[in-house]
Amino acid sequence: QWTPGHIIEDAVSRIREQVGTDQVILGLSGGVDSSVAAALIHRAIGDQLTCVFVDNGLLRLGEGDQVMATFAENMGVKVLRVDAEERFLGALAGVADPERKRKIIGNKFVDIFEEEAGRLTDAKWLAQGTIYPDVIESAGAKTGKAHSIKSHHNVGGLPDYMKLQLLEPLRELFKDEVRAIGEELGLPHAMVWRHPFPGPGLGVRILGEVKKEYADILRQADAIYIEELYRTGHYHKISQAFAVFLPVKSVGVMGDGRTYEYVVALRAVETKDFMTAGWYPLPYDILAHISSRIINEVKGINRVTYDISSKPPATIEWE
Ligand code: XMP
Repeated sequence: QWTPGHIIEDAVSRIREQVGTDQVILGLSGGVDSSVAAALIHRAIGDQLTCVFVDNGLLRLGEGDQVMATFAENMGVKVLRVDAEERFLGALAGVADPERKRKIIGNKFVDIFEEEAGRLTDAKWLAQGTIYPDVIESAGAKTGKAHSIKSHHNVGGLPDYMKLQLLEPLRELFKDEVRAIGEELGLPHAMVWRHPFPGPGLGVRILGEVKKEYADILRQADAIYIEELYRTGHYHKISQAFAVFLPVKSVGVMGDGRTYEYVVALRAVETKDFMTAGWYPLPYDILAHISSRIINEVKGINRVTYDISSKPPATIEWE
């Protein structure tokens, strides 16, 4: 019987054998897979690992600081944090088409990662958090949006002169095994069990053109929503939940005054495979509380709606 401890021991000795005294770089996103890969490789080779964490300005509230706290401060992992908000938002200015936004975000990520990786001239290995279902998925060349993220992590994007070899210690593992070893490696429970977050981040949760003002509003609304899902015990029954920013204004009333502000939609789905999904029946009293908190606490929002669409024909994300 393989326990998480055995899997870790085995992976650690394989990583040591593979890389020897070489330097390794890894693109850390804060998601489960890259986080567990980072923790595992760090366990195996310590300071020979350097992580690059690109903050694209499209992350959830406090996410960048959490990643730094977990890895750099608590675990002593070398992490280069790149504050690239302006570069991403600059590249996205005026762009409303969802697929164009995805491409711009993906390409920008590769540019910035390459730039940072190029500074680490000693690196011989590029580590990735590829897990078994990713291997299957790319072999089957499935279509669909989820597939496009893989270009984020694509070694094909790196310049030849770097000649990096791929290190993929999670390649044979399923998600539940990855989570189990993440816990065993001491990663925070909330990080290991977090809902999936798309590579383009809030870029596909702000409909149409992305602006910093919108991202800031959305981050606050989303944080309240998720906090309430945790507090009421629903978070772990839901496969994925998030808020979406709708760049339309509607009329409201607050105190004696008329307001004219933006709308937020809340999404929560249950799914086994993310190919089909049903909307999650969140109790009305909880929805009511979340709605009033968001409207009262987030400046710029005066209306909250709940998405009751299933996939298909809707998708999980709104873009
Ligand atoms: P959809 O919206 O296609 O989403 O029903 C299915 C799952 O895929 C995630 N998703 C993405 N993940 N890059 C990613 O890494 C993307 O461009 C992307 N688009 C969708 C989505 O969050 C859901 O879990």
